[in-house]
Amino acid sequence: MLDKQSQVVEAERTPDIARVPQAESAPPAPPCAMVIFGAAGDLTKRLVVPALYNLAQAGQLSDRFQLVGVDHNAGSAEQWRRNLAAAMQDFVAQDNEAHDALDPSAWRWLCDRMSYLQGDLNDAGAYVRLRDHLAGLDKTARTAGNYLFYLAVADRFFAPAVAGLGAAGLTTEKNGQWRRVVIEKPFGHDLASAKALNADILKTLKERQIFRIDHFLGKETVQNIMALRFANGLFEPLWNRQQIDHVQITVAETIGVEHRGKFYEKTGALRDMVPNHVLQLAAMTAMEPPISFDADAVRSKKTEVIQAIKPIDPAQALRDAVRGQYGSGAVMGENVPPYREEPNVASDSATETFVAWKFNIDNWRWAGVPFFVRTGKRLHRRSTEIAIRFHQAPFALFRGTPVEQMNPNWMILRIQPDEGIALEFAAKRPGPVVKLSPVSMDFAYKDYFRVAPNTGYETLIYDCMIGDATLFQRADTVEAGWQAVQPIIDAWGNDPPQDFPNYTAGSNGPAAADEMLARMGRVWRPLA
Ligand code: BG6
Repeated sequence: MLDKQSQVVEAERTPDIARVPQAESAPPAPPCAMVIFGAAGDLTKRLVVPALYNLAQAGQLSDRFQLVGVDHNAGSAEQWRRNLAAAMQDFVAQDNEAHDALDPSAWRWLCDRMSYLQGDLNDAGAYVRLRDHLAGLDKTARTAGNYLFYLAVADRFFAPAVAGLGAAGLTTEKNGQWRRVVIEKPFGHDLASAKALNADILKTLKERQIFRIDHFLGKETVQNIMALRFANGLFEPLWNRQQIDHVQITVAETIGVEHRGKFYEKTGALRDMVPNHVLQLAAMTAMEPPISFDADAVRSKKTEVIQAIKPIDPAQALRDAVRGQYGSGAVMGENVPPYREEPNVASDSATETFVAWKFNIDNWRWAGVPFFVRTGKRLHRRSTEIAIRFHQAPFALFRGTPVEQMNPNWMILRIQPDEGIALEFAAKRPGPVVKLSPVSMDFAYKDYFRVAPNTGYETLIYDCMIGDATLFQRADTVEAGWQAVQPIIDAWGNDPPQDFPNYTAGSNGPAAADEMLARMGRVWRPLA
């Protein structure tokens, strides 16, 4: 991580936007064969292959790179390429900021390296055929015997796939060759199942071979939280309970559950977003400085802070966490159905599509500073941000403006969209009367840096190929996340919701979330 991230490049602000490509100095990754299990799936089409295309275009894949698709459907490499090409056309068309059109030479380059195997993940023979196929590629394409297995499949296949790879000898590293496995989320559905999955895959793999993905960590602005905190002397002295009143983390989405009703019904907003994405944002914000940017140094600090989340009992979980489910409404001017009428969703579903939670971190830096997090679907606006609220000025010097009415200082880290950082403070309005107004100092990424084509998966795939696990979750990190939310899972499991649906699509979420903050004398930042 240090080599990749510690270089200081000059960002020159010009009227037509400075050009500092995100990865201009990264050399091509070492040769390898990447095997995607779930080759015909949605994730492969929408994110993994587009990310490989972006890496190919940026010259960050080895000339000796090979891509093997595995799926249970019969098919050929040619059919797979054709399906992917259609999805790639959609991808470049949607991403008009970064792409003009599909670059035929980069796409050809990738297509020339693709092969396809039909295989059932529960069939031992599939792994033997894969092994023979890879051995062939080692010879013809000189992939050096380095293999990256990407499990873009349903979570029930994670353990059998790892065991199958192991039994076929595909996870054994010898003669300097590496074998790595990328595991998607959901990694377990509670603490017990996450522990069981870790124990299972660790029978076959060493921890350093496992790359548990959390795609939020691939977002540039999430990585930038560390740069903000640890590459600047200005902020760290303010980053503690003496200066900070509370922290709000919001991951608001306007989309509904789309075609994922079946998955979402048994997952819900809490499991889908909180122990992973939301707590990763909290960990980046709250972690102690690592002693280096070595993967384990960073991951240990992140894990420690998640482990320091104060345990709560089920009764407190019911007070400190609020759930919601959307009813019908209008989102961005469009009428949308209630959650219970989405495809593959029960008409009396008790699954939450919104969660708000208040937690405390029991350590010296954060004692007494509440962290309020909320995430939900079909909300008023798409916005992911971390908002840090500083203490009020201690004394009102301005007659007629009592201290509690003065605008507090906020620092807002905008993760998406409109990535940037803003600092809100009070300024005097011009004129003879002393009147204060909130103003903002705003840094927008796009004003300084070229937006490189990025799905968020490029950095993660590249990092896996170079063996940098900094942005991946370790076993103990995943378990700490589940441990923190387990009391809520238990409390909600024993207390079905009575009031669903309890928020209108297109709103800011259920009133109970506002009431929870009001009880603590705080208010959510508006989503609009
Ligand atoms: C996924 C969740 O992990 O993250 C989805 O399963 C959610 O429900 C998505 O929509 C949000 O990611 P992003 O990158 O679109 O903010």
